[in-house]
Amino acid sequence: MNMETPTLGGLSATDPAALLAAVRQANAGTPHPRLREVLDALIRHVHAFALEVDLTPAELDLGLDFLVRIGQASGPHKNEGILLADILGLATLVQLRGARQALAQGGTEPALVGPFWRAQQPLRASGDSIATPDTPGAPLHVRGRVASLDGRPLAGARVETWQASPKGLYENQDPAQQDMNLRGAFLTDAQGRFDFHSVRPAGYPVPIDGPCGELLAAQGRGAMRPAHLHFIVVAPGHKVLATQFFDIEDPHAHEDVVFGAVGSLLRHFEADGQGGFGLDLDLRLEPGETRLPHCPLP
Ligand SMILES: [Fe+2]
Repeated sequence: MNMETPTLGGLSATDPAALLAAVRQANAGTPHPRLREVLDALIRHVHAFALEVDLTPAELDLGLDFLVRIGQASGPHKNEGILLADILGLATLVQLRGARQALAQGGTEPALVGPFWRAQQPLRASGDSIATPDTPGAPLHVRGRVASLDGRPLAGARVETWQASPKGLYENQDPAQQDMNLRGAFLTDAQGRFDFHSVRPAGYPVPIDGPCGELLAAQGRGAMRPAHLHFIVVAPGHKVLATQFFDIEDPHAHEDVVFGAVGSLLRHFEADGQGGFGLDLDLRLEPGETRLPHCPLP
């Protein structure tokens, strides 16, 4: 036996290709076919990654410690794991990829639900305001139409919306706002239309008090999301559309820290000549199973 070259089940452990082959072989008996496929790809990519950057043992320890701290910083009201997937662009990649067939047929781009959607947002009448009268900020009038991919209007669709205030705070973060301020649900009319008033929102930073904040600082990146309105649209016989529309005039419009401000989701909030703004939305939903995303807040 050659004492300079340790062996791994008869394979040379100094040969990365042989080591990779052994690890893949160990995974080959995974009974669930999709899990086997995903793990095999993960194994191949982490091995290639370590070789590409010539990862040192100290760097591996640092990375594993980072993952441990991601878990330790997470709980019922904070999820640094989700935030990590967001700031690496992974969440947006997976979401856009999942919608690619609908997008090819003119479907509206999805965007992340995020951590601020609340269950049981108040159902309001068409034309109502989601902002209490004491909410500061420039008036914003939102008009939209919900349709299927073929252009057929969807009557009775439930349009949920929520947004941050002009100070960049959601009501559940801000003692100065009333419960459920800047939130609402609307039902579309026979032509698929909805209509509501609000105020122009402001952008805000993602939380930077955890390991993800350290990562952003180490990258020299900002933490801002450009101003946006969230939507979840629910229509029978159609996939649920979760998306966001962004203010293209926001200084961070092209550097959304979670990379969600893409394509047609960046919009001009049109000045109405009286200090207010208007936003017209054409929402196209893909036929399919209606399945609501997890609601992060009560
Ligand atoms: Fe948001």
